[in-house]
Amino acid sequence: PRTGLIDGLGRQINYLRLSVTDRCDLRCRYCMADDMQFLPREQTLTRAEIHRLASLFVAEGVRKIRLTGGEPLTRPDIIAICEDLAALPGLDELVLSTNGRQLANHAIALKQAGVSRLNISLDSLEAERFRYITRHGVLADVIAGIDAAVAQGFKRIRLNSVILRGSNDDEILNLVAFALAREIDICFIEEMPLGDVGRNRAASFISSADIAERLAEHYALTPLINTDAHAGPARYMQAQGYPNSRIGFISPHSNTFCASCNRLRLTAEGRLLLCLGQEESLSLRDLIRQYPADDHEVRRALHNALTHKPASHDFQHDGEQLVRFMSASGG
Ligand code: GTP
Ligand code: 5AD
Ligand code: SF4
Repeated sequence: PRTGLIDGLGRQINYLRLSVTDRCDLRCRYCMADDMQFLPREQTLTRAEIHRLASLFVAEGVRKIRLTGGEPLTRPDIIAICEDLAALPGLDELVLSTNGRQLANHAIALKQAGVSRLNISLDSLEAERFRYITRHGVLADVIAGIDAAVAQGFKRIRLNSVILRGSNDDEILNLVAFALAREIDICFIEEMPLGDVGRNRAASFISSADIAERLAEHYALTPLINTDAHAGPARYMQAQGYPNSRIGFISPHSNTFCASCNRLRLTAEGRLLLCLGQEESLSLRDLIRQYPADDHEVRRALHNALTHKPASHDFQHDGEQLVRFMSASGG
């Protein structure tokens, strides 16, 4: 019989996305509003709370933890958190998603702390435009971060690009060429309607199929079977002649990957979020901080919550947009 975290639909959870902060040192327009209010620090999980909750998830069969944010590298104790988690017996992979802004300073320490793979956001290779999209980012910092990570020899590095019509859709080929030249992966993500960022998202939407079509004019692409253990939602292709890079697509609108969902999220404030595109959640922080529950009780609460994991995301629930921002959800 299968053991561990199995939801009401028979899906086994082996991947935890753990947001260590809702704060970020950038303000990407598709992610955040101008005037974001961040959580008071005491509401976010402490290093010790993260360690304790993560170890319970691993005891329940989680094999991959992805640290997210906000921007995880804005947390002063991020390296210590990585060391704590990398040492958990039973965890196969500790990975991290970052905007790359402070990566040049952290790449060595992250590698030494046991992080095996990095996903790095990169939406533009034009400095002016990069600054506009991120509201105050400096492209050269991120490129230095990517190159520092490449030099550290992480097992895999993937760039994440959110392509928007009229914003950066003329850079699809450049972004791919940038990744291929460095023998790293790149993944195109369809924009998801989380939080009110003060813009009509439908007007700028581009599907993964559109992007793949444009790429197919320049590369011979063949679909890859994803052999990663604990894979995320990306579907990958390979461009002929570039065996060391994969080109991925995350397509929450055109292809829902929910039927094979293997993940749960823990938000920065310690809410167990059952699905990115739904609101059901359970505050594990309150359970361990206020109540306070012993490990056995937390594990029971986890199993109980899991029976409510939704079948799929529902971004336009009853026509109401989700008010939660991506940065508060852990991406
Ligand atoms: P890998 O571990 O490399 O497969 O990464 P990943 O794609 O799981 O993680 P990453 O942090 O790079 O996220 C890329 C995009 O996928 C982000 O926009 C996430 O919000 C989105 N994403 C990840 N998991 C889910 C999910 O379960 N549902 C939805 N709708 N989006 C998801
Ligand atoms: N839709 C899709 N992807 C998003 N990200 C942030 N906000 C959104 C959104 N609304 C992406 C970032 C980063 C990844 C973790 O999530 O660009 O690469
Ligand atoms: Fe920060 Fe990432 Fe959101 Fe950009 S997309 S504002 S880098 S959390």
